[in-house]
Amino acid sequence: MGWSCVVARAVAFILMLGKISAFTSDIFAAGKSDKEILDNLLKNTRYDKRLLPPVDGVLTVNVSVLLLSLASPDESSLKYEVEFLLQQQWYDPRLRYSNQSHYDYLNAIHHHEDIWLPDTYFIMHGDFKDPIIPMHFALRIYRNGTINYLMRRHLILSCQGRLNIFPFDDPLCSFALESISYEQSAITYVWKNDEDTLRKSPSLTTLNAYLIQNQTIPCPIKASWRGNYSCLKVDLIFTRDRAFYFTTVFIPGIILVTSSFITFWLEWNAVPARSMIGVTTMLNFFTTSNGFRSTLPVVSNLTAMNVWDGVCMCFIYASLLEFVCVNYVGRKRPLHNVVYRPGENPVTQRLPAVLSRIGIILASPLPKRESTGAADLVSCTACTGPPGSCTHTANNGGVSEVRKKEPPHPIRVAKTIDVIARITFPTAYAVFLIIFFIHYKAFS
Ligand SMILES: *[C@@H]1O[C@H](CO)[C@@H](O)[C@H](O)[C@H]1NC(C)=O
Ligand SMILES: *[C@@H]1O[C@H](CO)[C@@H](O)[C@H](O)[C@H]1NC(C)=O
Ligand SMILES: *[C@@H]1O[C@H](CO)[C@@H](O)[C@H](O)[C@H]1NC(C)=O
Ligand SMILES: *[C@@H]1O[C@H](CO)[C@@H](O)[C@H](O)[C@H]1NC(C)=O
Ligand SMILES: *[C@@H]1O[C@H](CO)[C@@H](O)[C@H](O)[C@H]1NC(C)=O
Repeated sequence: MGWSCVVARAVAFILMLGKISAFTSDIFAAGKSDKEILDNLLKNTRYDKRLLPPVDGVLTVNVSVLLLSLASPDESSLKYEVEFLLQQQWYDPRLRYSNQSHYDYLNAIHHHEDIWLPDTYFIMHGDFKDPIIPMHFALRIYRNGTINYLMRRHLILSCQGRLNIFPFDDPLCSFALESISYEQSAITYVWKNDEDTLRKSPSLTTLNAYLIQNQTIPCPIKASWRGNYSCLKVDLIFTRDRAFYFTTVFIPGIILVTSSFITFWLEWNAVPARSMIGVTTMLNFFTTSNGFRSTLPVVSNLTAMNVWDGVCMCFIYASLLEFVCVNYVGRKRPLHNVVYRPGENPVTQRLPAVLSRIGIILASPLPKRESTGAADLVSCTACTGPPGSCTHTANNGGVSEVRKKEPPHPIRVAKTIDVIARITFPTAYAVFLIIFFIHYKAFS
């Protein structure tokens, strides 16, 4: 009784052993479906997904990044959306299957939950776009035990730009990959990209994002706050569309400021025209710059933009003030015995010659029309005789000696101020433009 029991057990055991050995030799044989192979590979008894792949030394995870799309919501933003495929490749000897199988690789996408995967996470400023858990991925197991894990990620990075030189800055976006639970002694990440640069998809799409430089590097040791964890870093350097800022900010600004200079070429007493030019250019500039400002990030250190707006406003305002000044001076009552002689201003007469020597073409000298109308009225109230005799004295040849003793006539002073402004304002503005664009390296 006892013996038969023992024999029966032994037979059963031997049978079972035979079954197992037949089974293990069978499972990879041709004709087995990839699902059967996977089911057998991942059986609880032979595979524990909680354990690191048993390799000699450190498990190396080869990482590469393939850029799919780059976008920025608007031109002046510091947010960049980066979409890429992250490929991680490592070796798990437990998942080798015989090379008799006709499958080059097993598609293990549905066994995602059952396989050991590196716990890679992202270090970055910003956010994940929609699902934090990747929903788009591929998982392949090769015959030799190499596992290829591909996933699509979409990050919204908050980048660092030097806003003090905005819009001539080049925002730097970076993110890093690190294992969250395995130290460097267990897992090492290695870039598999060629020449430390990012690969880009042939169908890479960009929107408002101008990538000028990229690099893939191991994390700088100082930046890694957790010390003993292997970490890889991606740096993306974008630039801004200079043409956009020139057409929306700088050229309109230059046009408005130079329009406000037109006032110097009008007559000193053209009050409606000159005040209209001054006020409309000023209001227009405020409107344009406020409109543009509303699209910028609200930060305090937009130095370049502040300098630009401030200086342009100063020029426009100064040319308006210059008109007020000229008009005020011109309307002053002339001093005793002073006669207004158009065309006899020593400054106005010498200037065109001086200017033509230095190559500036000045508008034609003061129009003669000024001797009639309001100007004449002012000058003639000052002289004792009838209006006819007044103009007569003005054209008299003998006045040159008198001139030196006379104080300047207010109208002549006003016109002189205008003439000086015609040169100083545009020159000063041109100097400002050159210094501004050189200092902020606008054309580099
Ligand atoms: C990782 O890349 C190295 C070369 O860079 C290669 O020798 C190694 O086989 C790769 N490992 C895997 C698992 O692909
Ligand atoms: C494939 O199998 C043959 C023997 O059948 C063996 O010599 C060879 O090393 C195997 N190749 C791999 C990659 O395992
Ligand atoms: C394993 O096989 C894959 C695909 O055939 C190959 O790319 C990889 O280099 C192989 N890895 C090793 C360690 O042989
Ligand atoms: C990264 O830069 C290299 C040159 O430095 C370039 O060849 C490569 O195309 C760039 N990658 C992308 C995605 O622009
Ligand atoms: C890093 O590892 C070394 C040795 O393994 C250990 O002495 C050191 O304290 C670790 N550093 C940190 C920051 O954990």
